[in-house]
Amino acid sequence: MQKDIVILGIESSCDDTSAAILKNFTILSNVTANQSVHEKYGGVVPELASRAHQQNIVPVVHQALKEAKIKLNDIDAIAFTKGPGLMGSLVVGCSFAKALSLAAKKPLMDVNHMHAHILAHFIDEGTPQPEFPFICLTVSGGHTQLVKVSSATELEILGTTIDDAAGEAFDKIAKILGLPYPGGPLVDKLSKEGNPDAFQFAEPRVDGFNFSFSGLKTSVLYRLQKEEKLNPDFIKENLNDLCASVQQTILNILFKQLKRVVQETGIKHVAIAGGVSANSGLRKRLQDFAETEKIQVYIPKFEYCTDNAAMIAVAGRFLYDKGIFSDQTVSAQARMNFNR
Ligand code: KG4
Ligand code: ZN
Repeated sequence: MQKDIVILGIESSCDDTSAAILKNFTILSNVTANQSVHEKYGGVVPELASRAHQQNIVPVVHQALKEAKIKLNDIDAIAFTKGPGLMGSLVVGCSFAKALSLAAKKPLMDVNHMHAHILAHFIDEGTPQPEFPFICLTVSGGHTQLVKVSSATELEILGTTIDDAAGEAFDKIAKILGLPYPGGPLVDKLSKEGNPDAFQFAEPRVDGFNFSFSGLKTSVLYRLQKEEKLNPDFIKENLNDLCASVQQTILNILFKQLKRVVQETGIKHVAIAGGVSANSGLRKRLQDFAETEKIQVYIPKFEYCTDNAAMIAVAGRFLYDKGIFSDQTVSAQARMNFNR
C-alpha cells in the first residue's frame, strides 16, 4: 500500500488568512479567518490586511491541524502562496511557511495562486474531475483569465482582461449602487429578484480572447448620473433590476469569449474557478452552455471558489509529486509570471 501524503497549505494573498490539511487528495480541514476590518473602507486596505494576517496566521494554522487531528510532525510538506497578490499579505504567509519549514524540517513548495484556483477542481469530493486538456475560466477580484490546462503543471493563458477583473467590476459597480464591500455576492443575491433585461449597458469589442470591464463601469455610472437628475431615488427604486442587468452584462462579456475559445480550440471540457465562480447566474449559465455546446462542465464547490488554503495544498501536492521544492531563498512576488 502507498504511504499517505499529508500537505499543510497556507494562503495569505489578499484579505483571507487560510490554512488547510490535505491527506492524499482529501481535505481534512480548511480554516479561513476573514477580515471584516476592510468593510468600512469599501475595499481591501493593504496595510490593515498584512497586520491582520500577522495576528491570524498562528491561530489559523493551529486550528487547521487541530480540526484535522494531525500533529505538525505528521505532515509531509508545506505549500504556501508565493503570489500574485498584495505584497504585505504575501510576505506574512511566505515568511511563516519558510520559518515553519525550517523549524519542523519539512519540505516547502511555493504555489502560484492562479494555478491553485484552477487545481481546486482536483480536491477529491467523489464528483467527476476535469479531463485534460480543459479550458478554465478563472474569474476573481484581481484576475479574469481563459486558461488552457494541459496538465496540473502545464497551464497557458489564452485570454485575459485588459483593464478591470470581473470581480472588480462587480465590486466597483456595487459601490456605485451604494452596496457595501465586497459587492459581488450582494449583486448576485439582489439579481435574483430583478429583471436582467430592464437596462442595457455597453458591451466591449476586444481583440482575441481578451476581456474588458472598465467601459461597463463607466456606462453604469453615466446612466445613473442621468437618471438621478430626474429622480434622486432612482437607484433605490430600481436596485434589483440594476443588479440583474449589470450581472447579465458581465456574464455576456465572459460567455462571448468562452464560446469563442471553445469553438476555436475544439476542447470539450470547461471549468470555472475563482471567487466570481460562486455567482449563481454564472453557474446556471455554464450549465446551459454545456447543453448548447455539447461539452462537459465542472463547477467547484462554493467553499473552494473564493480564496482558501485547500486549493494551495492541492496545487502543492502536484509540485510534491514532481519533486518541485523551494528553498529558504524563495520570496513573495506581488506580480508573478503565470508560468512560474
Ligand atoms: O478569488 P477571490 O476570493 O479573491 C481574489 O483572488 O481576488 O475573489 C473575490 C471576488 C470579489 O470581487 C467578490 O466580489 C467576488 O469574488 N465574488 C462574487 C461572488 N462571490 C464572490 N462575485 C459575484 N457573485 C458572487 N456570488
Ligand atoms: Zn483568489
